[in-house]
Amino acid sequence: MDPVEYEMLRHMWFPVARVADLKNGVASGSILGEELVVYGDEGSVTVAQGFCPHRGVALRLGQLRDGALECPYHGWLFETGSGRCARIPSLPPGRGRPHTALRTYPAEVAYGLVWSCLGDPFLPLPRLPEYVDNSWQLGAGEPYTLNCGMRLLTENFRDKAHFPFVHADSMGHVDKVVEPYRITRDGWRLGWSSSLGSEGVPEDMAEEFRHRLDYHITMPVFASICVSSPSGGRRLVAQVATPVSADGKTVRQFWLAGTDAESATQGAVLADVLGFERQVFEEDHPIVENQWPVEAPLDVHSQVHTPADRFSITYRKVYGELLENFKESQ
Ligand code: FES
Ligand code: CO
Repeated sequence: MDPVEYEMLRHMWFPVARVADLKNGVASGSILGEELVVYGDEGSVTVAQGFCPHRGVALRLGQLRDGALECPYHGWLFETGSGRCARIPSLPPGRGRPHTALRTYPAEVAYGLVWSCLGDPFLPLPRLPEYVDNSWQLGAGEPYTLNCGMRLLTENFRDKAHFPFVHADSMGHVDKVVEPYRITRDGWRLGWSSSLGSEGVPEDMAEEFRHRLDYHITMPVFASICVSSPSGGRRLVAQVATPVSADGKTVRQFWLAGTDAESATQGAVLADVLGFERQVFEEDHPIVENQWPVEAPLDVHSQVHTPADRFSITYRKVYGELLENFKESQ
């Protein structure tokens, strides 16, 4: 990975674990090859270096004790928030404790995920303006670890021209022609709207296919689709591609959110929709793991494009712009 890009990504927010993974108070994740431990609960979560400063045991094997993280090897106890070592059980009474602490990182909880950033955040946590109402039901998908670049995965999420080929099983008939579209831009957020044509679609699915789809990508790798049905219900599918290593390993985290209206009109229980998305993603994975180069090239002239690829071209250009912006800020 280009060193400037590596440095920039250290200053970006990525999800490191799902809140659901924190059931026993401890979870783990990684960003750019840095192993991280996540501990606490939804209201007070800490992200810290993944290995104990004493003998380097993986702290994801630890447990919460008295609201702090206990290393499983010699029981050193690390406080929530500061990461400060507050107890070393082997010390005889009266002996001074070495001053030590876990390196901690910014931590935020949003959309059922714990997010972190390896440096001072260069951009704010990506927002989903559609998701303004916390009464929406939220459904967390399972993370997938993939051998592909994070930008490739992000482009795949919004690439419509592959639907009739890759998703024939899950989606059935989808028109092969991609109508021309306009791209909108709001800061570091790109968008475009489309609908799935209902022509040739089986009668019972025609309603679903009349839905309007609003695609967005927020730099660098946050993608969402908001599906609006004619009856006013709305459903969001969102994903973030976390670069868990600096050499092309990516974790796809995804989740859904839906209005009650949507569930009522469609009986679209989130679990069913999650199952559908899983099928769709699993159809994508053999493709994205077999592309060369393994990351979307920022030099847009190095590949051949069609009008359907305008979004990807814009994404690559704006990503390059973000990189320039970051470079100038240093
Ligand atoms: Fe963690 Fe010794 S390795 S307490
Ligand atoms: Co796909």
